[in-house]
Amino acid sequence: MGRLINVSNRVPLAKTAAPGGLAVGVLAAMRARGGLWFGWNGETTGQEPGEPEITIRDSLTYATIPLPQTLYERYYSGFANGTLWPLFHYFLAGFRYEDQEYAAYEQANALFASRLSPLLAPGDLIWVHDYHLIPLGEKLRALGVRQPVGFFLHIPFPHFEVLRALPTFAEIVRALLAYDLVGFQTETDRESFLNAVRVLWGAQSVGDGGTVVSGGRTIRTGVFPIGVDVQAITQSAAKAAGSAPVQRMMQSLVGRRLIVGVDRLDYSKGLLERFQAYRQFLESYPEQIGQVTFLQIAPLGRQKVQAYAQIRDELEQSSGRTNGRFADADWTPIRYLNRNFPHATLMGFLRAAQVCLVTALRDGMNLVAKEFIAAQDPDDPGVLVLSNRAGAACELTEALLINPYDTRGIAGAIQRALTMPLAERRARHATSLATLRENDIHRWHTRFIDELQAARGRSSGELAAGRLRRLQQSLSSS
Ligand code: G6P
Repeated sequence: MGRLINVSNRVPLAKTAAPGGLAVGVLAAMRARGGLWFGWNGETTGQEPGEPEITIRDSLTYATIPLPQTLYERYYSGFANGTLWPLFHYFLAGFRYEDQEYAAYEQANALFASRLSPLLAPGDLIWVHDYHLIPLGEKLRALGVRQPVGFFLHIPFPHFEVLRALPTFAEIVRALLAYDLVGFQTETDRESFLNAVRVLWGAQSVGDGGTVVSGGRTIRTGVFPIGVDVQAITQSAAKAAGSAPVQRMMQSLVGRRLIVGVDRLDYSKGLLERFQAYRQFLESYPEQIGQVTFLQIAPLGRQKVQAYAQIRDELEQSSGRTNGRFADADWTPIRYLNRNFPHATLMGFLRAAQVCLVTALRDGMNLVAKEFIAAQDPDDPGVLVLSNRAGAACELTEALLINPYDTRGIAGAIQRALTMPLAERRARHATSLATLRENDIHRWHTRFIDELQAARGRSSGELAAGRLRRLQQSLSSS
């Protein structure tokens, strides 16, 4: 099997790295397979970067480059997070488009390709991650890279009616056809992509099993829902339950029950609606006033993007309003924190909670939902309240599924979770856990890499068939 080359914009070496599904998934693949992880080093410079810097940390090899300041702003804060992120999460109101940001996106991808390609060897498999790097495959091909290149989209792919708001949507769809394998979190995402292909190039362009034939090449598409390392989380959560930070937090509750939320601060996570729903819950079920504490952990990121600064202000006001109205001398209804914690501590918090709120307005998968299930004590598990607009809802059907815009519905679900009989909690948890075990993080990367590996055989077969065809044509014309 060839060497695995992972490519993502952010690699976990950068000090500013926020924890997220991408980092968790790629780390698992790297630990299992070794190889190289290429990406941005988290720094900006005044000039074009030179050769990548190689770093070995925890036995994993990274190759990273800085990005020129203006390019980074236009590419990362601009097109990636000001255009693609809101568009792909269906936030047309928060979406903007600028030619020069799109140009910077193309340019940043060309820069990544030019610095990565000298590091590649013939047997390598290249796996590109997420919306920052959609054109990378095309740029690598233009530099003569012939190894199998796969792409996985960690966020949703929007329906065509939303996608077409992007003036360069056809370029984005075409860029995805430079890969050998394109993976999505859910069937809905894959279908949206295939539908865009049909609209652009006709129904016949999509074949059986979601393959696309383009320029004489066959592009595979697949659904690979990202999972978690169930065993590692269960162990780390159980261990963290006895740790000082988790014990201190538990003691501070003085017997009150814990509702928890853990999300990167992002407007797609439905935090405002969640805060409103919690207020509604206290209003609708006054017997719960003083009986529960809601701990919301929301580390900051992407603060240079206007929409993130705005939601931060709004959340501060909203949590302040709830606390101002309901708090007592010895009770704060919401503890709202913009700081982060070590992963193990977070798992300990999740285990300590009776209820976890995942109310994303749209989410590719949402690994916190899966981590919460894996972190529970199976004898006395908490209950997950989960948005039906997160990818995780396709698998975690035993969670209390809610519409994240329905504040009354969420308030009712919180009450139901807090009053759910033990037998029902155990049964729901056991079913969810079995699903997570079946489709864990190892299955995710193994399935993707196996399919990409298979593309190598197919593409050499296609090349041979092409050569044979050309030979036959030249023989018959001579
Ligand atoms: C989250 C998302 C990923 C995305 C990552 C980028 O983890 O789920 O899809 O790639 O954020 O985060 P960054 O901090 O680099 O903007």
